[in-house]
Amino acid sequence: MPKLTIIAFDGTQYDFDVQNGSTVMENAVRNSVPGIEAECGGACACATCHVYVDEEWSATVGAPEAMEEDMLDFAYEVKPTSRLSCQIKMSDGLDGLVVHVPERQA
Ligand code: FES
Repeated sequence: MPKLTIIAFDGTQYDFDVQNGSTVMENAVRNSVPGIEAECGGACACATCHVYVDEEWSATVGAPEAMEEDMLDFAYEVKPTSRLSCQIKMSDGLDGLVVHVPERQA
């Protein structure tokens, strides 16, 4: 069971043991982490599940695919580490992943 840490915009840290194959967004919503709206339910069609992947994890998580990159154009204050959290699937390779919630969603 990989560990996932989500840091809310106010600095509150949420730590979870998560299922392989679940997305960062699903875990955030299930645990009511503030700031992840996920209006489209994970279909990569809303950009309201935007997060910043922690710098240390950015290379491991990798870059968004073309469809996600297009949606990220609609996100608020996009940075090089921006990803849509519904497109990040947890796995043992992401054990310990840290992501940060932006100030607001688009
Ligand atoms: S939940 Fe809509 S793009 Fe991620």
